Amino acid sequence: MTRLVVASGNAHKVAELRFTLADGAPGVDVLGLCDLPGPMPTIEETASTFAGNARLKAEGVAAWLRGQGEPPDTVVLADDSGLCVDALGGAPGVHSARFAGEDASDADNNRRLMAELERHGVHESPGHYVCVLALVRVDGGPVFGNQAAALFEGRWDVMVRRIARGDGGFGYDPHAWLDDRTVAELSPADKRSRSHRGRALRGLLERMRDGM
Ligand code: IMP
Repeated sequence: MTRLVVASGNAHKVAELRFTLADGAPGVDVLGLCDLPGPMPTIEETASTFAGNARLKAEGVAAWLRGQGEPPDTVVLADDSGLCVDALGGAPGVHSARFAGEDASDADNNRRLMAELERHGVHESPGHYVCVLALVRVDGGPVFGNQAAALFEGRWDVMVRRIARGDGGFGYDPHAWLDDRTVAELSPADKRSRSHRGRALRGLLERMRDGM
């Protein structure tokens, strides 16, 4: 049984990953930071890329787990994601979660996004969501053969519009359009099957099926 710790205190995220991996990669015991004793480590996301931040989170949590006496072959999975808007030169990008400030809500971030589109004089712009998953071992040893960190990336092209619709999903979804509807109008299952996160996760699952 491989122990996999999700580098997140978000019980919802952990439950979703547990559900997906139970089906696609049996033999993996999925835990979240909230399932482990002790205060959760805080890791600063200081990298300029999604991959860099996902790796910082995975390696930071691996180092913390090492200090807690976690077995060396436990693996840590971290993710970083966000929305990149062409007309804004790729912003908010890695700053998506805090576009309107440190403790910004989704509504605050969407207001800032709309203000930026207006400032650039556009009503819509192509954009894309990105999700990068990073998987490392607690002892820093190779994962899948010879890599110190295995990275899986998913991208989802959308049209970002000032007009918003729908109340599903989260974050920028009400402004992220696919043809005639927004991501906030998709069912959770439909979103999972098409999203940047779903794609990255399927990449990881394929590798895990071949064995750790
Ligand atoms: P993090 O990956 O938890 O750092 O958060 C990334 C941020 O990107 C979120 O707070 C959202 O603002 C945005 N984001 C990432 N994925 C999605 C998505 O699927 N829909 C809408 N917004 C997203």
